[in-house]
Amino acid sequence: MQDVGLTVAVLGFGELGAVLASRVAANEHVSVRVYCRPRPEPAAGTLAERVRAIGAAAHTDLAAAVGEAGIVISAVPASAAAGVAERCSRILRPGTLYADLTADDPGRKAAAADSIGRAGGLYADVAVLGTAVAAGHRVPMLASGPGAEGWAEACLRMGLVTDVLDGAAGRASTLKLLRSVYMKGRDALVAETMLAARRHGLEQELLPTISGPGEEVSFAALAERVLCSLALHAGRRAAELEGSERLLEAVGVEPLVTAAAAGRLRAIADMGLRERFSGQRPANMAAVLDAIDESSAARSDEAAPPCAPSIASS
Ligand SMILES: NC(=O)c1ccc[n+]([C@@H]2O[C@H](COP(=O)([O-])OP(=O)(O)OC[C@H]3O[C@@H](n4cnc5c(N)ncnc54)[C@H](OP(=O)(O)O)[C@@H]3O)[C@@H](O)[C@H]2O)c1
Repeated sequence: MQDVGLTVAVLGFGELGAVLASRVAANEHVSVRVYCRPRPEPAAGTLAERVRAIGAAAHTDLAAAVGEAGIVISAVPASAAAGVAERCSRILRPGTLYADLTADDPGRKAAAADSIGRAGGLYADVAVLGTAVAAGHRVPMLASGPGAEGWAEACLRMGLVTDVLDGAAGRASTLKLLRSVYMKGRDALVAETMLAARRHGLEQELLPTISGPGEEVSFAALAERVLCSLALHAGRRAAELEGSERLLEAVGVEPLVTAAAAGRLRAIADMGLRERFSGQRPANMAAVLDAIDESSAARSDEAAPPCAPSIASS
């Protein structure tokens, strides 16, 4: 892709759109058009001034922003993503790369890819794996779908960071939502832990006890350690957590996350993995997941996933 004469349309000038538009506009030979919804004065003038300050042009007409663009970056709220993609499919030029950075549902992103594709555009389902506030324009992204390679290549030239995930549009967003099970689940767990500790008058005393090398491992190492250990000790840990549930209830903290976690551990314990591995630590996490899958399939209450994603660096 040539940077010379490239026009990039950025849809939405919120937290993410503003950070990325600012970095893209800093590239020589790239002109940036920012689309914002019309608003009354003085807000309209203030917003247009903020857009001009980063060296971009402000538009309140979607067609004017998108019509001449080689790349369209959608950074609107998830609830608006599908509608904006549909409107763009009616006005973009064939060959335009449409990078959908919204946190929309994977199924709706796959549908958006179809409508952009029918219009001759190339759709990239882009999962933003971090926050613009914390990481700025270096926020890591992961893209899938027909426009993924083109988007990764453009990012390299524009100073943004995207990896490519093989597969159709929707796959990158699926991975993001799976990641959220841990990332957002962890947030909920931290909140529940600290609330209960405060109510028990142990807030400050608890903090230093969750520390040390065990809390500083990579996620890959953590997953290995946790799953291999759970194969043998899930029952014991479920019982301890059931005790924690009662402790939370005693101070009026509904143990929403604790109870769910105890339920998950109890379900693993009930699969009889300890007997299956003859009380010996499994060789690796894959062996444990295989055993859980087989047990689940036998009970046919949790179907095994059809495939596994692969990530390739751009
Ligand atoms: N911020 C991050 O670090 C981050 C990280 C991961 C993913 N994301 C995803 O990126 C997207 C944008 O996030 P954000 O944090 O930048 O959101 P935001 O701060 O709320 O900004 C959203 C922008 O989209 C505009 N907008 C709202 N509805 C629109 C519509 N129907 N048509 C066109 N523009 C519209 C808003 O303008 P108005 O002022 O007119 O409402 C605003 O400029 C979201 O889908 C979010 O999930 C963001």
